[in-house]
Amino acid sequence: MTNVLVVGGAGYIGSHMVAILLKQGFRVTVFDNLSRGHKDACEGAHFIQGNLLDFAAISGCLSAQSFDIVFHFAALAYVGESVKHPEQYYQNNVVGSVNLLAAMRKHKLNRLVFSSTCATYGEAKHLPIRETDPQVPVNPYGFSKFVVEHMLSDYAKAYGFQSISLRYFNSAGCDPLGALGERHEPETHLIPLVLREALRTKLGGHSKDTALQIFGDDYDTPDGSCQRDYVHVNDLCDAHLLAAQQLLTNDDGQAKYYNLANAVAYSVFDVVSACRRLTGQPIEYRIEPRRSGDPAVLIGDAQQAIKELGWKPHRTQLDDMISSAWNYLSKGA
Ligand code: UFG
Repeated sequence: MTNVLVVGGAGYIGSHMVAILLKQGFRVTVFDNLSRGHKDACEGAHFIQGNLLDFAAISGCLSAQSFDIVFHFAALAYVGESVKHPEQYYQNNVVGSVNLLAAMRKHKLNRLVFSSTCATYGEAKHLPIRETDPQVPVNPYGFSKFVVEHMLSDYAKAYGFQSISLRYFNSAGCDPLGALGERHEPETHLIPLVLREALRTKLGGHSKDTALQIFGDDYDTPDGSCQRDYVHVNDLCDAHLLAAQQLLTNDDGQAKYYNLANAVAYSVFDVVSACRRLTGQPIEYRIEPRRSGDPAVLIGDAQQAIKELGWKPHRTQLDDMISSAWNYLSKGA
């Protein structure tokens, strides 16, 4: 049985991955500091509470069992927060990854699937963005992931350390059965915040008391708001599984990089309109100044993942992503 370690497996994307790995018959251990994740989101996996900033903890975890591959989801991932608190981002995302890679080398484990991001590209020169396009991050979050990508490329050259970095565009949606969802506190992502506003009015709140803020309506885009390329979380997880299969079967000693995107852009106002239609709630908002660190448009070309990994995104409609997130959020209400 393939034995996998999922670092950051209690978070939003990590917990969806754990559920899929368990369903596929993998033996799964989660290593997570629970700073943003939830232990009950990875039921069925062996759970170790630990922090990547503690080298002895991650090294001890790797010495206790013989793992075939590691998935690395453990990172802080809020663009706005990274601009205000860059030190936390460089500590957690860069130093944490340095420790993980050193511990993996120490225990002769050299296969890693790394959660990277389209935030490594910054403001795109042309769209959709391809893997070969320049990476010029415009916020500390994107830069922290860019640094780790570079480390992986240097590790491949020097040590034959094999990795696949998956550059996610905007992850959205939830497990279709509604068992897992996006449980960030504080929540800063657009779709869950718009849906929280819908839930508030559904439960009797007045639409004029809205807490929803739109950060900027003066971008150089058709409706003035930012545009993003949304990808269903389960499609992201499918790509991780394919990446793991490739790493487990190919011993090419390389570091590879793939975009995970649908090449379709939705604006912030498109998301609000779709949420209004799908929830039947009025959903009002306030226009606020631009949020620091936000590129105007991010749209990705995932042809390389489609061709080389055999990735087939199945849940490409924004409506499906929003409906699954609404199903999760409104379930208990
Ligand atoms: N937005 C609002 N109001 C909100 C929240 C967000 O207007 O209350 C806007 C943002 O300004 C942005 C868009 O909605 O224009 C999307 O914002 P999110 O916070 O949902 O997502 P981001 O694009 O900032 O970041 C997410 C992930 C990152 C990833 C990035 C890639 O958090 O990890 O997608 O774009 F790198």
